[in-house]
Amino acid sequence: MQDKGLEWQVGVWDQMSELYEREVDQRFVPVAQAMLDRAALKPGERVLDLGTGTGSLALRAATAVGPGGGVRGVDISSDMLRIAGRRATELGLDHVEFREGRAEALPAEDSTFDVVLASLSLMYVIDRAAAAQEIARVLRRPGGRFVAAVWAAPEECDIVMFQKTAGSFAPPPPAPGVGPGALADPATFLSELARAGIEARVERQQLEFDFADFESAWNVLAGVTTAQLPPEIQDEAKKAVRDLMWDGVDGPRHFRNMTQFIIGRT
Ligand SMILES: C[S@@+](CC[C@H](N)C(=O)[O-])C[C@H]1O[C@@H](n2cnc3c(N)ncnc32)[C@H](O)[C@@H]1O
Repeated sequence: MQDKGLEWQVGVWDQMSELYEREVDQRFVPVAQAMLDRAALKPGERVLDLGTGTGSLALRAATAVGPGGGVRGVDISSDMLRIAGRRATELGLDHVEFREGRAEALPAEDSTFDVVLASLSLMYVIDRAAAAQEIARVLRRPGGRFVAAVWAAPEECDIVMFQKTAGSFAPPPPAPGVGPGALADPATFLSELARAGIEARVERQQLEFDFADFESAWNVLAGVTTAQLPPEIQDEAKKAVRDLMWDGVDGPRHFRNMTQFIIGRT
Protein backbone atom coordinates (compact mmCIF):
# COMPACT_ATOMS: atom_id res chain seq x y z
CA MET A 1 0.00 0.00 0.00
CA GLN A 2 2.80 2.41 0.99
CA ASP A 3 4.71 1.76 -2.23
CA LYS A 4 1.65 2.25 -4.41
CA GLY A 5 0.82 5.41 -2.51
CA LEU A 6 4.36 6.69 -2.83
CA GLU A 7 4.48 5.93 -6.54
CA TRP A 8 1.24 7.84 -7.05
CA GLN A 9 2.57 10.82 -5.05
CA VAL A 10 5.85 10.93 -6.96
CA GLY A 11 3.84 10.98 -10.21
CA VAL A 12 1.67 13.88 -9.03
CA TRP A 13 4.61 16.02 -7.86
CA ASP A 14 6.68 15.22 -10.96
CA GLN A 15 3.79 16.40 -13.14
CA MET A 16 3.37 19.52 -11.00
CA SER A 17 7.02 20.56 -11.06
CA GLU A 18 7.10 23.12 -13.90
CA LEU A 19 3.76 24.64 -12.92
CA TYR A 20 5.02 24.73 -9.34
CA GLU A 21 8.07 26.80 -10.24
CA ARG A 22 6.05 29.11 -12.49
CA GLU A 23 2.90 29.62 -10.40
CA VAL A 24 3.24 28.30 -6.84
CA ASP A 25 6.71 29.40 -5.74
CA GLN A 26 5.92 33.12 -5.92
CA ARG A 27 2.67 32.62 -3.97
CA PHE A 28 4.46 30.72 -1.19
CA VAL A 29 7.21 33.34 -0.68
CA PRO A 30 5.49 34.64 2.50
CA VAL A 31 5.55 31.09 3.92
CA ALA A 32 9.26 30.68 3.11
CA GLN A 33 9.96 34.06 4.72
CA ALA A 34 7.95 33.16 7.85
CA MET A 35 9.89 29.86 8.07
CA LEU A 36 13.21 31.71 7.88
CA ASP A 37 12.11 34.23 10.52
CA ARG A 38 11.39 31.35 12.90
CA ALA A 39 14.48 29.31 12.02
CA ALA A 40 16.85 32.26 12.69
CA LEU A 41 19.64 30.61 10.71
CA LYS A 42 23.20 31.61 11.49
CA PRO A 43 26.27 31.65 9.22
CA GLY A 44 27.98 28.26 9.18
CA GLU A 45 24.90 26.21 10.11
CA ARG A 46 23.94 22.96 8.37
CA VAL A 47 20.32 22.75 7.27
CA LEU A 48 18.19 19.94 5.86
CA ASP A 49 15.09 21.04 3.92
CA LEU A 50 12.62 18.16 3.93
CA GLY A 51 10.22 18.14 0.95
CA THR A 52 12.22 20.91 -0.68
CA GLY A 53 10.18 20.94 -3.91
CA THR A 54 11.68 23.37 -6.40
CA GLY A 55 14.05 24.54 -3.68
CA SER A 56 12.86 28.05 -2.97
CA LEU A 57 13.33 27.77 0.82
CA ALA A 58 16.57 25.75 0.51
CA LEU A 59 18.09 28.46 -1.71
CA ARG A 60 17.11 31.19 0.75
CA ALA A 61 18.51 29.10 3.60
CA ALA A 62 21.78 28.69 1.68
CA THR A 63 22.11 32.46 1.43
CA ALA A 64 21.42 32.76 5.18
CA VAL A 65 24.03 30.20 6.30
CA GLY A 66 26.61 31.40 3.76
CA PRO A 67 29.37 29.37 2.10
CA GLY A 68 30.70 28.28 5.51
CA GLY A 69 27.46 26.38 6.09
CA GLY A 70 25.53 23.93 3.97
CA VAL A 71 22.01 23.01 2.90
CA ARG A 72 20.66 19.67 1.73
CA GLY A 73 17.24 19.64 0.05
CA VAL A 74 15.45 16.28 0.06
CA ASP A 75 12.39 15.33 -1.96
CA ILE A 76 10.65 12.28 -3.45
CA SER A 77 10.21 13.97 -6.84
CA SER A 78 13.21 13.93 -9.17
CA ASP A 79 11.54 16.50 -11.46
CA MET A 80 11.14 18.96 -8.57
CA LEU A 81 14.78 18.35 -7.60
CA ARG A 82 16.02 18.93 -11.16
CA ILE A 83 14.47 22.40 -11.12
CA ALA A 84 15.89 23.11 -7.65
CA GLY A 85 19.37 22.08 -8.81
CA ARG A 86 19.14 24.28 -11.91
CA ARG A 87 18.14 27.27 -9.77
CA ALA A 88 21.08 26.70 -7.41
CA THR A 89 23.47 26.63 -10.38
CA GLU A 90 21.95 29.82 -11.81
CA LEU A 91 22.45 31.53 -8.45
CA GLY A 92 26.02 30.23 -8.16
CA LEU A 93 25.24 28.56 -4.81
CA ASP A 94 27.52 25.54 -4.47
CA HIS A 95 26.94 24.86 -0.77
CA VAL A 96 23.40 23.59 -1.42
CA GLU A 97 22.80 20.07 -2.71
CA PHE A 98 19.63 18.21 -3.62
CA ARG A 99 19.04 14.51 -2.94
CA GLU A 100 16.20 12.16 -3.76
CA GLY A 101 14.78 10.56 -0.63
CA ARG A 102 11.79 10.43 1.64
CA ALA A 103 10.96 11.81 5.05
CA GLU A 104 10.55 8.28 6.41
CA ALA A 105 14.18 7.38 5.51
CA LEU A 106 16.16 10.61 5.25
CA PRO A 107 19.36 10.40 3.20
CA ALA A 108 21.53 11.78 6.02
CA GLU A 109 23.87 10.55 8.76
CA ASP A 110 22.92 10.69 12.44
CA SER A 111 23.29 14.08 14.23
CA THR A 112 24.59 15.95 11.19
CA PHE A 113 22.23 18.94 10.95
CA ASP A 114 21.70 22.01 13.14
CA VAL A 115 18.27 22.68 11.66
CA VAL A 116 15.59 20.67 9.83
CA LEU A 117 13.04 22.71 7.85
CA ALA A 118 9.86 21.27 6.33
CA SER A 119 7.71 23.82 4.55
CA LEU A 120 4.24 22.58 3.47
CA SER A 121 5.54 19.04 2.96
CA LEU A 122 4.70 17.01 6.08
CA MET A 123 0.99 16.86 5.22
CA TYR A 124 1.92 14.62 2.29
CA VAL A 125 4.13 12.22 4.26
CA ILE A 126 2.51 8.80 4.52
CA ASP A 127 4.22 7.64 7.74
CA ARG A 128 4.63 10.76 9.88
CA ALA A 129 5.68 8.84 13.01
CA ALA A 130 8.65 7.47 11.06
CA ALA A 131 9.38 10.98 9.76
CA ALA A 132 9.44 12.34 13.34
CA GLN A 133 12.01 9.68 14.29
CA GLU A 134 14.09 10.52 11.24
CA ILE A 135 14.03 14.27 11.89
CA ALA A 136 15.22 13.65 15.45
CA ARG A 137 17.90 11.21 14.26
CA VAL A 138 19.56 13.64 11.82
CA LEU A 139 19.43 16.66 14.16
CA ARG A 140 22.31 17.41 16.49
CA ARG A 141 21.50 16.81 20.12
CA PRO A 142 20.97 18.80 22.19
CA GLY A 143 20.06 22.10 20.55
CA GLY A 144 18.99 20.96 17.08
CA ARG A 145 16.09 23.04 15.73
CA PHE A 146 13.04 21.98 13.76
CA VAL A 147 10.64 24.35 11.96
CA ALA A 148 7.74 23.19 9.80
CA ALA A 149 4.78 24.88 8.12
CA VAL A 150 1.44 23.09 7.69
CA TRP A 151 -1.96 24.42 6.64
CA ALA A 152 -4.83 24.82 9.10
CA ALA A 153 -8.39 23.47 8.62
CA PRO A 154 -10.41 24.37 5.48
CA GLU A 155 -12.69 26.79 7.38
CA GLU A 156 -9.72 29.08 7.99
CA CYS A 157 -7.49 28.17 5.06
CA ASP A 158 -8.78 28.91 1.54
CA ILE A 159 -6.23 26.76 -0.31
CA VAL A 160 -7.30 23.73 1.72
CA MET A 161 -11.00 24.50 1.16
CA PHE A 162 -10.35 24.75 -2.60
CA GLN A 163 -8.36 21.51 -2.87
CA LYS A 164 -10.61 19.56 -0.51
CA THR A 165 -13.74 20.53 -2.46
CA ALA A 166 -12.14 19.74 -5.84
CA GLY A 167 -10.68 16.48 -4.46
CA SER A 168 -14.07 15.28 -3.20
CA PHE A 169 -15.00 14.60 -6.86
CA ALA A 170 -11.98 12.34 -7.45
CA PRO A 171 -11.60 8.72 -6.30
CA PRO A 172 -9.78 8.38 -2.96
CA PRO A 173 -6.01 8.58 -3.53
CA PRO A 174 -3.99 5.38 -2.95
CA ALA A 175 -2.13 7.05 -0.06
CA PRO A 176 -4.61 7.43 2.83
CA GLY A 177 -4.35 10.20 5.43
CA VAL A 178 -2.39 12.65 3.28
CA GLY A 179 -3.43 15.92 1.66
CA PRO A 180 -3.21 19.67 2.24
CA GLY A 181 -5.35 19.60 5.41
CA ALA A 182 -3.88 16.43 6.93
CA LEU A 183 -2.07 18.29 9.74
CA ALA A 184 -4.82 20.81 10.48
CA ASP A 185 -4.88 19.19 13.90
CA PRO A 186 -1.19 18.67 14.61
CA ALA A 187 -1.67 17.05 18.07
CA THR A 188 -0.79 13.49 16.99
CA PHE A 189 2.28 14.67 15.13
CA LEU A 190 3.41 16.73 18.16
CA SER A 191 3.20 13.54 20.27
CA GLU A 192 5.18 11.64 17.64
CA LEU A 193 7.83 14.36 17.74
CA ALA A 194 7.89 14.24 21.56
CA ARG A 195 8.36 10.44 21.48
CA ALA A 196 11.27 10.98 19.09
CA GLY A 197 12.85 13.53 21.47
CA ILE A 198 11.67 16.84 19.94
CA GLU A 199 9.61 19.14 22.16
CA ALA A 200 7.52 21.29 19.84
CA ARG A 201 4.85 24.01 19.96
CA VAL A 202 2.63 25.64 17.32
CA GLU A 203 2.44 29.28 16.21
CA ARG A 204 -0.25 30.43 13.81
CA GLN A 205 -0.09 33.17 11.20
CA GLN A 206 -2.44 34.08 8.36
CA LEU A 207 -0.61 34.31 5.04
CA GLU A 208 -2.14 35.31 1.74
CA PHE A 209 -1.89 35.16 -2.04
CA ASP A 210 -4.03 36.04 -5.05
CA PHE A 211 -5.35 34.53 -8.25
CA ALA A 212 -6.58 36.69 -11.13
CA ASP A 213 -9.60 34.47 -11.82
CA PHE A 214 -11.19 31.09 -11.19
CA GLU A 215 -9.68 29.28 -14.20
CA SER A 216 -6.09 30.17 -13.33
CA ALA A 217 -6.63 29.07 -9.72
CA TRP A 218 -8.15 25.82 -10.95
CA ASN A 219 -5.24 25.08 -13.30
CA VAL A 220 -2.70 25.61 -10.55
CA LEU A 221 -4.48 24.08 -7.55
CA ALA A 222 -6.53 21.26 -9.08
CA GLY A 223 -5.48 20.85 -12.73
CA VAL A 224 -3.10 17.93 -12.18
CA THR A 225 -5.13 16.04 -9.59
CA THR A 226 -8.39 16.22 -11.58
CA ALA A 227 -6.95 15.74 -15.08
CA GLN A 228 -7.97 12.06 -15.26
CA LEU A 229 -11.62 12.68 -14.32
CA PRO A 230 -14.31 12.48 -17.03
CA PRO A 231 -15.08 15.99 -18.40
CA GLU A 232 -18.59 16.06 -16.91
CA ILE A 233 -17.21 15.32 -13.40
CA GLN A 234 -14.54 17.98 -13.87
CA ASP A 235 -17.30 20.45 -14.73
CA GLU A 236 -19.25 19.44 -11.61
CA ALA A 237 -16.15 19.85 -9.45
CA LYS A 238 -15.42 23.26 -10.94
CA LYS A 239 -18.98 24.40 -10.35
CA ALA A 240 -18.82 23.28 -6.71
CA VAL A 241 -15.60 25.22 -6.04
CA ARG A 242 -16.76 28.28 -7.97
CA ASP A 243 -20.12 28.39 -6.15
CA LEU A 244 -18.43 27.96 -2.78
CA MET A 245 -15.50 30.32 -3.19
CA TRP A 246 -16.32 32.80 -5.98
CA ASP A 247 -19.91 33.64 -5.02
CA GLY A 248 -20.92 33.04 -8.64
CA VAL A 249 -18.94 36.09 -9.88
CA ASP A 250 -15.71 35.28 -11.66
CA GLY A 251 -12.74 37.57 -11.14
CA PRO A 252 -9.82 38.00 -8.77
CA ARG A 253 -9.81 36.01 -5.54
CA HIS A 254 -7.75 36.77 -2.45
CA PHE A 255 -6.81 33.56 -0.57
CA ARG A 256 -6.42 33.81 3.20
CA ASN A 257 -4.50 30.81 4.48
CA MET A 258 -4.08 30.22 8.19
CA THR A 259 -0.63 28.67 8.47
CA GLN A 260 0.62 26.68 11.45
CA PHE A 261 4.30 26.68 12.30
CA ILE A 262 5.56 23.72 14.31
CA ILE A 263 8.67 24.81 16.17
CA GLY A 264 10.75 22.33 18.10
CA ARG A 265 14.12 21.50 19.64
CA THR A 266 16.01 18.33 20.41
C1 LIG B 1 3.62 21.63 -1.43
S1 LIG B 1 5.21 21.06 -1.89
C2 LIG B 1 6.25 22.08 -0.87
C3 LIG B 1 7.59 22.34 -1.54
C4 LIG B 1 8.47 23.37 -0.82
N1 LIG B 1 8.85 22.96 0.51
C5 LIG B 1 7.78 24.71 -0.78
O1 LIG B 1 7.52 25.21 0.32
O2 LIG B 1 7.49 25.26 -1.85
C6 LIG B 1 5.34 19.47 -1.08
C7 LIG B 1 6.63 18.73 -1.43
O3 LIG B 1 6.77 17.63 -0.53
C8 LIG B 1 7.33 16.55 -1.25
N2 LIG B 1 7.04 15.31 -0.51
C9 LIG B 1 5.86 14.67 -0.39
N3 LIG B 1 5.98 13.56 0.38
C10 LIG B 1 7.28 13.49 0.75
C11 LIG B 1 8.05 12.57 1.54
N4 LIG B 1 7.50 11.50 2.10
N5 LIG B 1 9.36 12.82 1.70
C12 LIG B 1 9.95 13.90 1.14
N6 LIG B 1 9.28 14.81 0.37
C13 LIG B 1 7.96 14.60 0.19
C14 LIG B 1 6.68 16.65 -2.61
O4 LIG B 1 7.36 15.93 -3.60
C15 LIG B 1 6.67 18.15 -2.85
O5 LIG B 1 7.81 18.58 -3.52
